[in-house]
Amino acid sequence: MISQETIQQILSRIDIVEIVGSFVKLKKRGANYLGLCPFHNEKSPSFTVSPSKEIFKCFGCGKSGNTIGFLMDLEKYSYVEALKWLANKYNVEIEETEVSPEVKLVRHTADSLYIINNFAQQFFSNSLFHTEEGTDEALSYLKERGFREGIIEKFQLGYNPSAKDTFAKAALAAQYNTEYLQKSGLVVIRDDKPADNYRGRIIFPIHNQSGKILGFGARIIKSNDKAPKYINTPENEIYVKSKILYGSYFARMAIDKADECLLVEGYTDVVSLHQAGIENVVASGGTSLTPDQLRLIKKYTNNLTIIYDGDSAGIKAALRGLDLALEEGLNVKLVLIPDKEDPDSYVNKVGAQAFNEFVNKNKKDFILFQLEVSLADAGNDSAKKSVIVNQVAETISKINKTEEFTRRQDYIKQVAEILKIGEDGLNALVNKFIRDKVTKEEYRSQQPAKADIDKSSSNEQEKELTVDTLFNKDEMSERALIRSLIEFGNYTWAENQTVAEFLFGQVADNELDKMIDNKALLNIYNIYKIWYEEGLKPTSKSFLYHEDRDLNSLVISLMDANTEISPNWKEHFEGHIATREELFREEVLSTLNYLKLRKIKKMIEENQRDMEHAGTENDQILYLQTHQQLKQMEMELTKQIGTVIFK
Ligand code: UTP
Ligand code: MN
Repeated sequence: MISQETIQQILSRIDIVEIVGSFVKLKKRGANYLGLCPFHNEKSPSFTVSPSKEIFKCFGCGKSGNTIGFLMDLEKYSYVEALKWLANKYNVEIEETEVSPEVKLVRHTADSLYIINNFAQQFFSNSLFHTEEGTDEALSYLKERGFREGIIEKFQLGYNPSAKDTFAKAALAAQYNTEYLQKSGLVVIRDDKPADNYRGRIIFPIHNQSGKILGFGARIIKSNDKAPKYINTPENEIYVKSKILYGSYFARMAIDKADECLLVEGYTDVVSLHQAGIENVVASGGTSLTPDQLRLIKKYTNNLTIIYDGDSAGIKAALRGLDLALEEGLNVKLVLIPDKEDPDSYVNKVGAQAFNEFVNKNKKDFILFQLEVSLADAGNDSAKKSVIVNQVAETISKINKTEEFTRRQDYIKQVAEILKIGEDGLNALVNKFIRDKVTKEEYRSQQPAKADIDKSSSNEQEKELTVDTLFNKDEMSERALIRSLIEFGNYTWAENQTVAEFLFGQVADNELDKMIDNKALLNIYNIYKIWYEEGLKPTSKSFLYHEDRDLNSLVISLMDANTEISPNWKEHFEGHIATREELFREEVLSTLNYLKLRKIKKMIEENQRDMEHAGTENDQILYLQTHQQLKQMEMELTKQIGTVIFK
């Protein structure tokens, strides 16, 4: 935690014009400043900054906020990250409360590594541009490959001289500590002496989101069978490969604006595409995408386009991570570059315009692509084909967010056509995979609670849990209520009232919170309410990155359309082809009514038990009256819901 004093110090120094002005070109207009909005594409400026109110507002896209909000929106920082960025900018030393010695040590190491990397980058740039060996061997090589000085400087490329310890000597002379130098991967101990790890190599610094250098990729100049083409920084406190996408620092705004992220394999692909003016591009280093990398992309866009060379060994690796991308709701497309070219050589050959045209014309849907590849592999082997049907159904089942229902159906249609199988059969298979997954997740998240409540049930029985037993009507109604809240909470219910506000009122009035038996669901309700009352507008996304993994997977499973629609609702509206969006009122009301009815039924049972033990005749009459009232309420509710449902 950053101490309150530090926060105050930072806030007191904020100059919104200066901060926003370092990202957006601003011109003074009266009391305000005006510029082109960084959050949407525009030709004439509608983005204003008011220094007196300390806010920005765009009249084009409607975005507005304070300085911290600006940094959070633009740089996708968390609140704390935005504060740290500002602290750094204004040289405010961050005072933190409650930092453990272990954390302090890691931080200290991390800080030292950043400082060393910074020093190294300057050293390498200097040797590329200002030493004879650098210009003769390295700069000339880069220029031959078509890299111009502007782009070399922008990406801070450099050169590590070929003598055994030029860099090590300079670093030691500058008082850097050998242990950290080794940790950074820049220096190794050879024959008991510190020596350069990247000697004779072109250096590609690897930046994090905010431009700090995490590590390096070092490319050999002349290919050589004995040495690897690239040496990369070893994993350390700041270089964590699974979290890094090369080029993200330079690409982030372009990705945001284009609403698309291009993914290539290599360092040189990124640099060349940038040079050609295609800036929404990052590289993964040819390995499969990790969840952290996917999240990084998802901060900026839902559209991922993978551009690989046609015969790259990396394609398979890239495809491997992609089911995960679908689960996260990413739209994945694939483009293969022909004729043994890679994006770097291809853009150099045909130019930016033709490159873009090629990509747009040849973008293949990832699922269909995967299907084509495996079908070609399978030939006429029918056993293999049935494996493929299962695989593709499983892949499609990963698209299971509510808002993606249409997309999933589209896939089912197309895939059924390609496979020449019936659409209904494929649909059923996909649904089976969804159910299996939901059941597993549900089973997992319910384990502790179930063990508490139901100590007598044997393991054997628990293993046999099926969708039917898990999602009984009560449970489904509770799920439906929470899902309505998350999905429709921000919709308008009545004048000056959102669905969320309506539901909060209903739940309080009817004490329904006591009726939500499932603890995890109740927890989601409470978190939603806190967020809502803090002025956030929570959506399923708000839960997606919640630190509690069980909670976020429960929310994800709640948002599965179709697999489990509120029991009343489904039968009630059978035959109508209306979307859930259109019917949200009905869904909310019928779910509420069901829960209310359930409560009344419980009260009737209780009342009956009491009646049996009633002492006096007077008491009995009282109980009987209550019974009649409750029955009356039950009847009215049942009528509202439709008798069909409660056989
Ligand atoms: P490539 O072999 O396609 O290299 O590897 P490249 O980026 O096109 O480089 P040039 O154009 O030949 O100079 C793709 C990526 O795989 C990683 C690097 O990130 C590289 O950019 N790689 C490759 C390694 O990490 N180590 C290697 O030995 C080779
Ligand atoms: Mn290449």
